[in-house]
Amino acid sequence: MSQPTRRYITTPIYYASGDPHIGHAYTTILADVLARFDRLTGADVLFLTGTDEHGPKIEEEASRQSLSPIELCNLMAERFQAAWKTLEISHDRFIRTTEAEHKAVVTAFLERLWERGEIYEGPYSGWYCIHEERYWTEKDLGPNHSCPDCGRPVEHLHETNYFFKMGAYQDALISHIEDNPHWIVPEIRRNEILGFLRQPLGDLSISRPKSRVSWGITLPFDEDHVAYVWVDALINYLTASGAIDPGKVTGEQGFEDVSGSWWPVDLHIMGKDILTTHAVYWPTLLMGAGLPVFGQILAHGWWVVGEAKMSKSLGNVIDPLALREEFGTDAVRWYLLREMPTGGDASYTAERFLARYDELANVLGNLGSRVISMVWKYRDGVVPEALGNGLDTEITEAIRKATEAMAHYKVHEALAASMDLARIANGYVEDRQPWSQAKDPEASGDLDQTLATLTRALIVLCALFEPVTPAKMAEMALNLGLDGIPTLEESRSLELAGRRVSRGKPLFPRIEPSWAV
Ligand code: MSP
Repeated sequence: MSQPTRRYITTPIYYASGDPHIGHAYTTILADVLARFDRLTGADVLFLTGTDEHGPKIEEEASRQSLSPIELCNLMAERFQAAWKTLEISHDRFIRTTEAEHKAVVTAFLERLWERGEIYEGPYSGWYCIHEERYWTEKDLGPNHSCPDCGRPVEHLHETNYFFKMGAYQDALISHIEDNPHWIVPEIRRNEILGFLRQPLGDLSISRPKSRVSWGITLPFDEDHVAYVWVDALINYLTASGAIDPGKVTGEQGFEDVSGSWWPVDLHIMGKDILTTHAVYWPTLLMGAGLPVFGQILAHGWWVVGEAKMSKSLGNVIDPLALREEFGTDAVRWYLLREMPTGGDASYTAERFLARYDELANVLGNLGSRVISMVWKYRDGVVPEALGNGLDTEITEAIRKATEAMAHYKVHEALAASMDLARIANGYVEDRQPWSQAKDPEASGDLDQTLATLTRALIVLCALFEPVTPAKMAEMALNLGLDGIPTLEESRSLELAGRRVSRGKPLFPRIEPSWAV
């Protein structure tokens, strides 16, 4: 038997300074849907997420809350994990950058760059935004010396930093992007990075003096400095891969053979706001360390409210967990993934949320309850034996469309194709009129075929919808007498005849929202 495909998929690690909101939830659910779909097709998956816990931003927030930085991080790491649990995120590993293993890998990584002559010490003078954790040049700044991204005041810094010779990898990076047209998707983001690389690429400051920032990982070659939080954070992907055993790293040893590990990452998923760090800093750092670069980056768009990006500072953040309390996790997942074309922006509106919920209830939920109640009504709850499948072509086509769309990360299209199959199955009920077939003793075989065809469609839908609505599909699988969610292949071949179905609660009940639309 051939080995299952291995897929290593990551989300960014989220700052432990604020609560999870709809933006974090979207990135994570998108990664979850892709990871679940890969598992459905039989792949062996490592799905990584976690929290980014070092740096001045965390230090400041902790002091604002009269906590120590680690107390704040412990609290927030728990909150993120609790949020991901309620949102049915199926990550295999939750990494925290304050873990001992991660600190050791960052130390080994920096040591290696140092020994390879990739790092030098130099003066830094310029502007810094703590909120975005990034430097700005004078010409980038907004009015009154504000950060052009978040509008907060920036600080002027003049200090000694260590620099990574990033500029030396500019040509190698451009060639890599040109040789691998799908390395950064969607194309608009790839072009953005190629555009950015048309300017000379500077070196990257990778340290902060402890006199200013103490909450970080000490540099192995200068104990008065800590690693820049972005460098520390990016290395999480390497830590979790198991490629580097810090106990075995000595100078050049310990980095050569990554073959037994999960490294390299197959897919890094993130929002477009943090593309440069992932598409420029990260691969050049890996090149500097002599490690293979990752397989691909998928950059998604923003959830906006009206015209504005949802952000804590604007006070317009939608809390996904509050929506979830009324409509259930799966409804939130479905809305976020079905509504936003992967890669583009989308605007949150209550009307669209309700319209998408109605679709779940009226098309998929309705199909589930009517099929199961007909199997009860006409065949005492047991799926009959039947010749042929009335929707064979439609099922093949829906699976083909969904699989192809997922392969191109067009998740919204894959979900549309799956919902279309549910619509087609509802149409099939109308065409076949099982209530008339049931009255006609001559049509008993036809009725068997109608019921078996619809049960098959439901089982396939169970698999197709599992990545986006996993909890409800687990209920539906139970109602259909299945042991669990079938893989796509199993959903087509599982024996139907004799299967006992049970009437559960409606999957997507009618809900009157507590808020006005
Ligand atoms: N800690 C860094 C990432 C380090 S990864 C090595 C960070 N964290 S974050 O807490 O700001 O979360 C970033 C993720 O949340 C990005 O994928 C970003 O796009 C996403 N979102 C934050 N607000 C968003 C929206 N309004 N809409 C969609 N996603 C956005 O950056």
